[in-house]
Amino acid sequence: MKIVLLGPPGSGKGTQANIICQKYNLPHISTGDIFRSNISQGTPLGKKVKEYIDSGSLVPDELTISIVEDRLRQDDCKDGFVLDGFPRVLSQAIALDKIVNLDKAIMIDLSDEEIVRRLSGRRMCKKCGNPTHIDWLKNGKCEKCGGEVYVRDDDKEETVKARLAKQKLPQEVIDFYIKKGIYAKVSALDTKEKTFEKVDSILREIKK
Ligand code: AP5
Ligand code: MG
Repeated sequence: MKIVLLGPPGSGKGTQANIICQKYNLPHISTGDIFRSNISQGTPLGKKVKEYIDSGSLVPDELTISIVEDRLRQDDCKDGFVLDGFPRVLSQAIALDKIVNLDKAIMIDLSDEEIVRRLSGRRMCKKCGNPTHIDWLKNGKCEKCGGEVYVRDDDKEETVKARLAKQKLPQEVIDFYIKKGIYAKVSALDTKEKTFEKVDSILREIKK
């Protein structure tokens, strides 16, 4: 299963990717997670991408595409993967198309209003990476693994607004996958479990 999850910032891509990867035992590749881990380790890449992420802008293709290409060439991606947050522009979709044949591009869709509500309460688990929400914590800790949680730097209200304004997925990316016959769209307004049922019915079609 070679899948990409498209969608606006905060629509639930990471949440759905985690559930898919657990069920189907696939690697979860999130460009945002790769960038954040480079920032926290202070690598040269981390230093270059920080200002883009902090200002809610997209990281330029020359820093993004090669990272994904290298990651997809690793052995654990041979039989499938879930790519979360890539591609976001047509140039990235074209670059990806040159190295893999995707099975599905699934849009995890949500209104801006609900995104702002969810991101203002998002907490990230330091231990398992689960994106969770302030309402779901158990004794202030991750409901899944009991790990400490933190607030992402780019979840500040002004940055969320900038991300929504600057990072709308271009229609040409959607059209690219519609033309290939692999595009699907799921509303994430339901609970994460119900949203996953809809995602999973799309995935089961691939497996047939
Ligand atoms: P990235 O980390 O990918 O951020 P994003 O796209 O803004 O998406 P998020 O991770 O914020 O949200 P999500 O859709 O994963 O939602 P989540 O599951 O957490 O990228 C960060 C930055 O890196 C970008 O801004 C950009 O600068 C750069 N970047 C990354 N990829 C790039 C690329 N390809 N090109 C250029 N630049 C790139 O859920 C959100 C919240 O909602 C959580 O609190 C969660 O618990 C909650 N939630 C989830 N589902 C539900 C539900 N069904 N009901 C209620 N609450 C829910
Ligand atoms: Mg995410």
